[in-house]
This record gives sequence, structure tokens and C-alpha cells, in this order.
Amino acid sequence: MDGLSRRNMLKAGGVMGAAGALGVAVPWTWSASGSVAGAGAGADPRWVWDPEADPLVASLLDRGDVPRVNQLLRTWTKNGQPLPSGLPADLRDFMDSARQLPSWTDQGKLATAFDFNEKRGLYLGVLYGLASGMMSTVIPKEARAVYYSQGGADMKDRISKTAKLGYDIGTRNAYAADGEMIVTCVKTRLVHAAVRHLLPQSPHWPPVAEEDIPISQRDMMVTWHSLPTTVMRKLVDWRVPIPAHESEAFLHSWQVCAHMLGIHDEYIPATWDEANSQADQVLNPVLAPTNEGIALADILLNLGSIIDGGILSKPILGAFTRFMLGDQIASWLRISRYPLWDGLLRTAWGPFIAVREGLLPFPGAPDAYWLFDEFLRKAALLFLSEGRTISIEIPESNRPS
Ligand code: HEM
Repeated sequence: MDGLSRRNMLKAGGVMGAAGALGVAVPWTWSASGSVAGAGAGADPRWVWDPEADPLVASLLDRGDVPRVNQLLRTWTKNGQPLPSGLPADLRDFMDSARQLPSWTDQGKLATAFDFNEKRGLYLGVLYGLASGMMSTVIPKEARAVYYSQGGADMKDRISKTAKLGYDIGTRNAYAADGEMIVTCVKTRLVHAAVRHLLPQSPHWPPVAEEDIPISQRDMMVTWHSLPTTVMRKLVDWRVPIPAHESEAFLHSWQVCAHMLGIHDEYIPATWDEANSQADQVLNPVLAPTNEGIALADILLNLGSIIDGGILSKPILGAFTRFMLGDQIASWLRISRYPLWDGLLRTAWGPFIAVREGLLPFPGAPDAYWLFDEFLRKAALLFLSEGRTISIEIPESNRPS
């Protein structure tokens, strides 16, 4: 199925992408003692999915209940809102339990996470979109699942739905009664369960022999690391000053998110050190190009020009992607070199951050800095705010062939 032969992928990917291209999972040796649960059975999450949601959603699909459920759930938007009446009893029972926050939720940390999100919103918007979003296209299992599922046929719609989660998690009341993050997570958990049932029925599945049921708990953690872990790594690289308690609070908001998406507590890292060590084990070695990921990346890079008439044009997004994810990933995704933008980012981004953060004196800052600032604003808007009125719905089919 892949036009890129395995050998070519390996040549392109080198050692870094070898495991990902072959679909070979590196053994799971990360210890549950470093998790929010503090202990666990230690089962490789490659073989764990969502035992509560999966059979339920498969049954909703088989019974033909999904259109009615989607229609009812469109009205369920706030965390504290009662579930709409008329939902099938088994779904209602599941959702009543799935919407409960974990016992280890720390409201103080969630409040601090909001302060952090507010202060760092511009960087976060760009990082979620260009670092996490583009990275998802070189996570082979995610790229293939997204490409062959229903949302793969309409990436703009899919991006805005995913952006809703990035937006919701950054709001003041994210997990409070008047917020929307719990709703977004529970709906996403149902979507993932549907994908596990639907994708194996696609004529294109499995795209490689090693694929089977998609979105294992291990896959979920890989994608999770492409979000908060990658974002925090970039902020640290860029020397953005972040007080320890804010960094910890940001992590906490994502730990709660992982739990609400159905990831078992024994796989959720308790600290940044643990998160980094788990990411080194499960994220870095799987990154590799696939035809599906290259196609998705191309769509993503073209989104800016569709939305704002070329100001966020492909060259700027391409250069930012190269700058954030490096030459190897940029070449996997066949992103061209844009000497003007590539050079500007290399030389001016560091000082720009320093000026913005008050670490360098303000007078005399070159115009390029304000160009960057304008870019940040536009990109944050593109990747974050669009999610506001979007409704996440359970798919009933795969990508049309
Ligand atoms: C759907 C977030 C992990 C594949 C979604 C949606 C969100 C989301 C918000 C709903 C948007 C929509 O319906 O299009 C996340 C987060 C993850 C995660 C935060 C990890 C922390 C994964 C993984 C895979 C995956 C590991 C695949 C290996 C998909 C697919 C859809 C989806 C195929 C449905 C697209 C469609 O057909 O509409 N995800 N996801 N996700 N996700 Fe995830």
C-alpha cells in the first residue's frame, strides 16, 4: 500500500525512524512507579485499548444508535450540564462515570495552569499547531489512523475539532461546571472507541501488516507526548522563563486530560522527568515518514492560505515547521527550504523571544520581531480559537474510498 518502500523509509528516516517505519514497538520498560497511580500491573499498553468504551460504542454503531446519540449530544456542551434525556441507558451509565474527574485532581494546580495558559497563550497556539500538529504526521500509527478514518477526508474540519481540545484545556474554567473540557474529552473518548471499531473494517486497513486495532493506550501516550511534552521541551529550548509551579500545573492539566480520555493512571507520568523519560522511550523512536503523513502535512501547510488569504502562507508555515521540528522531519515531510524565512528564524527567533520576555532591552528591536509577533497572533488564532463552536461527533464510517 505504501508507495514509499520500507527500505526507502529506513533510508530517509535513519535510525530515528527505523522502529516507527517497521511498526516495531520498542519494549515497554517504563515503570508504573513513575506514574500518577504510583503502581500498576506493568502490562505493555500496546495491547491495552479502552475496555469500557470500546464494546459500548461498537454496540451503538451496530445497533444504529449513533445518529440519534450524536444529535442528542450536540446539546451537551458544558461540564456541569446534565446529560440529555433520551440517551441509551448503557451510554448514559458510561458517561456518568467517564465524566468524573480523577480523585487526584488538584484544583489549585488547575487554576495555576490557567495563569500559565493565559501568559503563554500565543506560544502555545503556535506550538500546538505547528510542533504537535505537524509532529502527528510523522507518528506513523496516528497518521494512518487519521488518514483512513472519516476525518481524513476533511482535514480542515478535523483540525478545528482537535483545536477545540487545545482551546478548551487553556480556558479558566476548563474542568469546572461552566467549562467544556470534560465534555470534549468524554466525546473524544467515544470517537476513539468508534475508530477502533470502524477502521479495522476499512478496505485500506491494515495499511501495513503490523497494524491492527488502532489507538492503543501506548499510541495515546505517544500522541500525548507530541502535545505537552513537546510543547514544554520547545519552551525550555527557547529559554522562555517558566516558574516551576506553572510548569508543574501545565503538566497537571494534561494529566487530567489523559485520564479523561481513558488513559489508565498507571501510564500517565507523574512528573516532567518521568514524562521525558517515557517520551524518549515511546515517542522519539517511532517518528518516521509515511505516504499518509506526507499527504496530511501538505494539507496542514496549505490551511493557512485557505483561511487568511496567504498571510500565513505555505512558506512561513513550512519554515516554522522546519525550525521547530528540525531538518530531518522537514525533509521527511518534503517541506521545501525557504532561505529568507529559514534564515530569519535561525537568527532572529532567539533574540525575539528574549525581547518579548523582557530579557533583552526593548529599544532598537528590529522590525522582524514584530513580524514574528504578528505571526504568533495569527497562528494562535488559526490553531486555537476556531474550536469554539465545533461539535465533536461519533463517526459512523471510515474515509470514503
Ligand atoms: C479524533 C484528540 C490520540 C486518532 C480525535 C478528536 C480529538 C482527539 C479532540 C476529535 C476530533 C474529531 O472528531 O475529528 C486526541 C488526543 C490524543 C489522541 C488529545 C492523545 C492524547 C489519538 C491517537 C490516534 C488518534 C493515538 C491514532 C493512533 C484519531 C482519529 C480520530 C480522532 C482517527 C477521528 C477522526 C475522524 O474520523 O473524525 N482525537 N487524540 N487519536 N483521533 Fe485522537
